[in-house]
Amino acid sequence: MTTKSAALIDLRSDTVTQPPDEMRRAMAAAVVGDDVYREDPTINDLEILAAKITGKESAVFVPSGSMGNLVSGLSWCSRGSEAIVGENSHILLNEVGALAAFGAVQMRPIPTNDKGMLNPDEVRKTIRPKEGFFPTTGMVEIENTHNRAGGTAISRSEIEEVLEIAHQSDIPVHLDGARIFNAAIAQSMPVDELVANIDSLTFCLSKGLSCPVGSLVCGSEEFINKARKFRKMLGGGMRQAGILAAAGIWALNNMVSRLIEDHDNAQKMFSLLQNISEIEVLNKSVDTNMVYLRPRNIETGLFVSRLKEKGVLVGSMYGSVRMVTHYGINSEDIDATIEAIEHTLK
Ligand SMILES: Cc1ncc(COP(=O)(O)O)c(C=O)c1O
Repeated sequence: MTTKSAALIDLRSDTVTQPPDEMRRAMAAAVVGDDVYREDPTINDLEILAAKITGKESAVFVPSGSMGNLVSGLSWCSRGSEAIVGENSHILLNEVGALAAFGAVQMRPIPTNDKGMLNPDEVRKTIRPKEGFFPTTGMVEIENTHNRAGGTAISRSEIEEVLEIAHQSDIPVHLDGARIFNAAIAQSMPVDELVANIDSLTFCLSKGLSCPVGSLVCGSEEFINKARKFRKMLGGGMRQAGILAAAGIWALNNMVSRLIEDHDNAQKMFSLLQNISEIEVLNKSVDTNMVYLRPRNIETGLFVSRLKEKGVLVGSMYGSVRMVTHYGINSEDIDATIEAIEHTLK
């Protein structure tokens, strides 16, 4: 069984990762039960492991990162309340407005720094007074790593500034930690330290950790009980999904430390791209596994389709090109991509 499609170099996203053979074997061997009855031992084990790794009381397995953020938002925010979010956050731009659609929650985007982190003064100014006819501020949302800012790793001190302001006003902070393990590895920090005192977080198994499906929401027991109800309401209650949870357990034990290889490959890409004058590299630096760029003399769509003809798939986002390194990409693939880019621009 192969874990990589032979001809293509697929840099569109780390979501394209194929489950490794050993992960597939763990999936096949999983003991399963009906998880809506809480009788799937493998899902129960995964939830306990996720809570332990993140230092939270409890966790719930959900089908996707989007559903993780949605059940979290629904658990914190009542109808007509407001969620403070970054102006370029995934929850605002890429989750089809789900929190507004299903929760009648108004998302209030605020400016961020270059790394995509909320500006603490803006958070302070944006929290609504409790008295009067303002909407209630239901939660503050942060993202780490930050996707659109270039896979940036947000530091513990930046997180603490926002936590302090939100908690002074009794507002919970939710973290979209779709790639929190990339953020932790990049800063050589254990995940539980990086997310300490954050009230809830989502992390994804289906990105750099190479699982086929699944995310975890972690938080207090009380919060997770609420989130579990919203998961069912949204149709996310799964049955013998321990097959998927087995992949998650295997990944948490085997795929986290290797993320550093993806970061090294992204760093290599970033460095080699600096030598190509026709390319404007948009990242200031590379913290994790993403590089954004723009070709200077050729239209982005044309650049993307020409690269595809050469067997290199890249993402086209917000008028720029995104390249994401992952388990299916090695150092030679970076050399081949650079060569393909050079030929494309000739
Ligand atoms: C930062 C971030 N949050 C959330 C998600 C949503 O995850 P999913 O695709 O599993 O819904 C993504 C997906 O790419 C993401 O990049």
